[in-house]
Amino acid sequence: MTTTVTAPDFVRHQALINWVNDIAKLTKPANIEWCDGSEEENQRLLDLMIANGTMIKLNDEKHPNSYLAFSDPTDVARVEDRTFICSEKEIDAGATNNWVEPSQMRGTLNKLFDGCMAGRTMYVVPFSMGPLGSHIAHIGIEITDSPYVVVSMKKMARMGKAVYDVLGTDGEFVPCVHSVGAPLADGQKDVAWPCNDEKYIVHFPETREIWSYGSGYGGNALLGKKCLALRIASAMGREQGWLAEHMLILGVTNPEGKKHYIAAAFPSACGKTNFAMLIPPAGYEGWKVETVGDDIAWIKPSADGKLYAINPEAGFFGVAPGTNTKTNSNCMSTLTSDVIYTNVAVTDDGEVWWEGKTKETPANLTNWKREPHTGEERAAHANARFTVAAAQCPSIDPQWENPEGVPISAFIFGGRRADTVPLVSEAFDWVDGVYKAATMGSETTAAATGAQGVVRRDPFAMLPFAGYNMADYFTHWLEMGESVGAKAAAAGNQLPKMFKVNWFRRDAEGNFVWPGFGQNMRVLQWIIERVEGKANATSTPIGLVPTYEDINWTASDFSKEQFELVTSQNKEQWLAELNDHTKLFEKLGERMPTALKEHNAKLIADVQAS
Ligand code: OXD
Ligand code: MN
Repeated sequence: MTTTVTAPDFVRHQALINWVNDIAKLTKPANIEWCDGSEEENQRLLDLMIANGTMIKLNDEKHPNSYLAFSDPTDVARVEDRTFICSEKEIDAGATNNWVEPSQMRGTLNKLFDGCMAGRTMYVVPFSMGPLGSHIAHIGIEITDSPYVVVSMKKMARMGKAVYDVLGTDGEFVPCVHSVGAPLADGQKDVAWPCNDEKYIVHFPETREIWSYGSGYGGNALLGKKCLALRIASAMGREQGWLAEHMLILGVTNPEGKKHYIAAAFPSACGKTNFAMLIPPAGYEGWKVETVGDDIAWIKPSADGKLYAINPEAGFFGVAPGTNTKTNSNCMSTLTSDVIYTNVAVTDDGEVWWEGKTKETPANLTNWKREPHTGEERAAHANARFTVAAAQCPSIDPQWENPEGVPISAFIFGGRRADTVPLVSEAFDWVDGVYKAATMGSETTAAATGAQGVVRRDPFAMLPFAGYNMADYFTHWLEMGESVGAKAAAAGNQLPKMFKVNWFRRDAEGNFVWPGFGQNMRVLQWIIERVEGKANATSTPIGLVPTYEDINWTASDFSKEQFELVTSQNKEQWLAELNDHTKLFEKLGERMPTALKEHNAKLIADVQAS
């Protein structure tokens, strides 16, 4: 298609129209559709995908208005080794990101995208990350040839015509180009989930552009999420003095009605969604936990030194396996209707199932590969997902769409560690907190391709998501502590306290010792009471920790011996751990902040002396 595109009346932004025109010339789609976010459009695309075999409709009585998509078996997770940060200078991408010189990458992309949408419809998808028109929000326009992306973006972002009203004739937007990379020759029949073995997820942080090729899977294809709201936004935040973080946000209210908001970073598939929707256990009558977000936080300082956070997303793209009415009852209620599932299993009467949903595996199950489930392989893919609007969550916080955000009282950093790291420890100060977050380690999970169960360092849970040099990212956090801390001190406020948690300690037999889920409330109570200056803590070389007596055990039978198992600190393990931090800092290169290197040396000396 070589003719000039005609935009509908609701698009009045000439630079945007020119850009769409350029991309259409390059990708050569059969049609162009300017999405308006209407229900009619959504239903038409869902019906199209049912006709194409991408999706099936679930049992309408059990799951009103809900669908199940089956991906290509090779396109099931984020592809970190195919993700690139193409800053002008290699050093600005840092040691943890893949880098290719920008003009070379543009050459590669131009070849890949040339004609890549042939035979397909190109959709132009306007979206806002953050409440429409909020001063904290940012707008993106995603061009995609995947209808799955369009219907998913409708749930995950504020998507639709109203975005163009905010954008006006010259507003700023992040251009995002996505193709599944599967052009169709004349008359060629499409496959159910088109994609390409060659994949590129590319970010140009200086020009704030995103190009994604070859994958239709969520994190690679819904470009508002990881690509814009984390990688590009983290680079914007550094320039503009704010933070874009891989964090859930929750609100905790105590029986006296005092409320605190907490932001918590955990690597992918470590239970962020469960923690964000925690239901206080027996013994916690009068306490309430409410959900602002389950994956991403944009955090901006106020003049009086408080940090205000918004959830830039409008939906949850959560991991289904392991989710059930006991582990996350709020989530199961969120999934009552209007859900798009991907790669879960399904019964012959249209009921979805995944490992851990119920004890019994239902009969007549079709697995995520669309084969009869025999029990030899998984029924649902380990990274099977649900996509659902956040507004459906029963624990959604009344302030979740407040354009000003919610004030953060504490940061929590967690990881999945079988040993070494205790259940909870509080940082001595901001620098120690940044150190704790910078050295987070976690056993790898199915959320990304690659080996699983190996401890990898995942600073701030941002290893796959920092859009610039990780060492500069630490410096940005340290500087935020100084600048925001000074404003806070002048106004009589305090910076959020920082904590490290580990729900995943195992005993000698390899069993998890801490019950987790709702029981994490006990740790949360200690944390907020530390913020309020009420709870007790004991100083150890690696942080301030509670004793058994400092935790509320009402209606719990968790014993002192079990507590010892999840909180013990082993000198040899800690020396090995701290030496591993030294290696990480060496790997992160010349821009590594001295304050953190010195802190590493101090901790080694303190542990040695203990
Ligand atoms: C996610 C991830 O999808 O972190 O949230 O992988
Ligand atoms: Mn995530």
